[in-house]
Amino acid sequence: MTDLQHLFGINAQSHVDTVHPRELAWPEAFGPAELAFLSDMAFEAPGHERGAVAYVAKELAQLAEIERHVSAVLTYVMAEMQAHAVPLSSGFALHDALSCFAAEELHHANMFYRYVRLLSGQDFGQPDNLFSQRVALYQGDDSPFVKLAALCASAYVGESVITVFERRAHALDPGRRHFFTQLLHAHGLDEARHVQTDHFVFEQVVPTFTLAERRRMQQILEATEALNAEVALRFQAHAQQTFGLDYTAGNRGHAVQLQLTQTFRRLVWGAPAAPGAPWPALRRVDDAMDDAGRRLIESFSASAVVHHAAGARHG
Ligand SMILES: [Fe+2]
Ligand SMILES: [Fe+2]
Repeated sequence: MTDLQHLFGINAQSHVDTVHPRELAWPEAFGPAELAFLSDMAFEAPGHERGAVAYVAKELAQLAEIERHVSAVLTYVMAEMQAHAVPLSSGFALHDALSCFAAEELHHANMFYRYVRLLSGQDFGQPDNLFSQRVALYQGDDSPFVKLAALCASAYVGESVITVFERRAHALDPGRRHFFTQLLHAHGLDEARHVQTDHFVFEQVVPTFTLAERRRMQQILEATEALNAEVALRFQAHAQQTFGLDYTAGNRGHAVQLQLTQTFRRLVWGAPAAPGAPWPALRRVDDAMDDAGRRLIESFSASAVVHHAAGARHG
């Protein structure tokens, strides 16, 4: 199988293994059992429902922002690819893979946007979302492949973190009785393909870069991360102000999320071997996993693996 046939195959079942946001069994409101489950997910005990609602609303509203950005940048990349006649973009495999990726992220943003409003009972928007600044990083005259690699390097870490949370939800709620588990499951069906596309970019696209292109990828990645960190701070302040509490106190989900993010960045991106040496490394998170990382994900999600092999998903 050629690399492009492999890429095209990633989305072979994307019209089947997916859940449109409208297909979910949206309730009128979330009852006590659902809110207690959120409290269990984050605080490992019931009784912290308000803190859990603030935490989940903050994280998923922020994720919707990130997904909207991924979708927008992928659209730019696909448009700019038209002027780059290279083997990678010949035929329609790459265009198809990125179209599926972009469309799914926009559906996720829609799904999370709706969920956050239902959960919080209010319009939980963040107008200072730095959207145009974040998109502008990808509007320079860099190769669209450099932009694609920087975007995937950033997105992959978040996609890996939420996969661990999805697995935790399945471990606590194996029958998917709770809406939150159904939501993460619906999201994860698409994410399993996104991570395979990220792996393709890491392994088939990045190695074709010149040193100058790798440096630009690094710069765009670092600038993306800096702006995303600022967006996260704004959402955190917004959530604490809206709900009038510090949802991070005693919140193991929040603490582990930070640990996972730091661990996955270190594993996936690696450290520069020397000033000027190619960076980031861009390894698959499970290939790079160390004992400390494995213990962390196992204790939180009852699985020692972040991304199962293609097709080996639960339920
Ligand atoms: Fe997503
Ligand atoms: Fe994704």
